[in-house]
Amino acid sequence: MLFDPFFLRGMHLKNRIIMAPMCQYSAGEDGFPQSWHEIHYVSRAVGQVGAIILEATAVEPRGRISNKDLGLWSDNHIKPLAQIIEKCQSYGCKVGIQISHAGRKADIFNEPIVAPSPVRFNNKYQLPEELDHAEIEKIIDAFSAAVQRADLTGADFIEIHAAHGYLINQFLSPLSNLRTDEYGQNRSLFLQQILERARRQLSSDKPISVRISAEDYKAGGNHPENFGELLNPIKSLIDIVHVSSGGVVDDTEIPAFPGYQVKFSEIIRQQLKLPTIAVGKLDSPILAEEILQNKRADLIALGRELLRNPYWVLRTSSELKSSIDWPIQYLRAQHNIG
Ligand SMILES: Cc1cc2nc3c(=O)[nH]c(=O)nc-3n(C[C@H](O)[C@H](O)[C@H](O)COP(=O)(O)O)c2cc1C
Repeated sequence: MLFDPFFLRGMHLKNRIIMAPMCQYSAGEDGFPQSWHEIHYVSRAVGQVGAIILEATAVEPRGRISNKDLGLWSDNHIKPLAQIIEKCQSYGCKVGIQISHAGRKADIFNEPIVAPSPVRFNNKYQLPEELDHAEIEKIIDAFSAAVQRADLTGADFIEIHAAHGYLINQFLSPLSNLRTDEYGQNRSLFLQQILERARRQLSSDKPISVRISAEDYKAGGNHPENFGELLNPIKSLIDIVHVSSGGVVDDTEIPAFPGYQVKFSEIIRQQLKLPTIAVGKLDSPILAEEILQNKRADLIALGRELLRNPYWVLRTSSELKSSIDWPIQYLRAQHNIG
């Protein structure tokens, strides 16, 4: 199944392998991609991944994970991203952009940072200011404008970054959302309002992925079983759930064995009846195939393995004797792997 096509909304993927979003910490201080980004992403498109999710891309400067993140907070960001996306697409690869706000995990020191509640992630980060309703509205506006710009880059889909302890995740988790107002009583309200606006800005044929941290690895935090309650009321706004874990609080241990997050994907897929992307040390093709065949996820995302080997898909297709289209320039390498 790894090399079977997949359809989502109006998007057609040639196979089930996704490049996971990975910050390159190489953008200009102003959020613009550099030549590194083009080489990095286009190589994986040549390597025939079905889709690439571009790294966390900030909706406003104080929402950057680092001051070398990509940004989409101005119209000037559209064109340079569009150029990279178009090149990736010319190799038959679909491209999504991960739309992000770091909240209390913004590693920047030139301006105040914000969060649902005024609690520091750890003492390496600034103490965040608690967001009031007017500020929440402004951030939702920033998400909406960034999604509109993402649409204009020609991206095939977007991913809303609601994982790894960044701003949306800070609202979703009871460990970081200590509010008593409606955003505390309904911890998915902030995500809901972002998704409602995003859906209106994005072309109707383009899917929306939501990346979540399904497990907080801490008592009193979120566990996969909680996501039925959190996301079922808003599932019509979500096309696919990208199931990751961790990052909300600092003092946790994540048991990162091959497939460690697959169980979470399986639970969420069953509870929400939505397709899922599994991720986390899935670079064994047999493991990836097992996950798809047993309906534990619909797509497989690879992160670090694609940093080690941009041509993982080509090699794996030869090893599994699956016929996929190789770039014609590389055809002589197709059959003599040994
Ligand atoms: C260098 C690096 C940067 C990352 N940046 C992001 C990111 O921008 N957004 C995100 O959601 N996850 C990010 N991640 C997490 C990956 O998307 C992925 O979930 C994680 O590496 C586990 O998958 P793997 O075992 O295949 O690498 C990053 C991981 C790495 C190694």
